[in-house]
Amino acid sequence: MHYLIYISNSKLSFLNDEIIGIVNTCRLYNKKFNITGLFLYHDGSMLHVLEGEKEKVHELYYNKLSKDKRHKDLIILLDDEIEKRSFTDWSVGFNKSQNREWSDIEGCLDIGNRNEFSQLINPLSPELVSIIQSFSDVNRIHI
Ligand SMILES: Cc1cc2nc3c(=O)[nH]c(=O)nc-3n(C[C@H](O)[C@H](O)[C@H](O)COP(=O)(O)O)c2cc1C
Repeated sequence: MHYLIYISNSKLSFLNDEIIGIVNTCRLYNKKFNITGLFLYHDGSMLHVLEGEKEKVHELYYNKLSKDKRHKDLIILLDDEIEKRSFTDWSVGFNKSQNREWSDIEGCLDIGNRNEFSQLINPLSPELVSIIQSFSDVNRIHI
């Protein structure tokens, strides 16, 4: 099993329809290729954890994500083998109080909510916790 974690910025502030479109595309594609993980968005900054077979994860990253003009400044933080997955599906998290219009997106986590945030990170490996915690700190999600 393999995982790839990257951070990036968005060139555009995503409009409601656009983010719903991206999330729906991701869900379908990632499910089809058995890619699990987590996509966190806060004020234009993004952290994306992708897990799956190395070939599938790399195909998604190099053939789609890194070529997507809605992304910029992509930086890979980790690209490595893992023993097992940390996530059972692929989910999205954002601060719901700052993005109320996105609240209709099914199955999204509210990373602005401390309880939901703790529930999200508690079961994860120390390595993932520290990356997600850093993303939260740098973006001042919990101040
Ligand atoms: C921030 C961001 C994250 C994305 N994450 C994924 C993803 O996890 N899975 C996916 O299939 N597409 C994702 N996409 C969309 C792809 O970049 C691409 O637009 C989509 O896969 C359609 O590609 P195609 O036009 O080559 O078919 C993401 C796009 C953006 C802007």
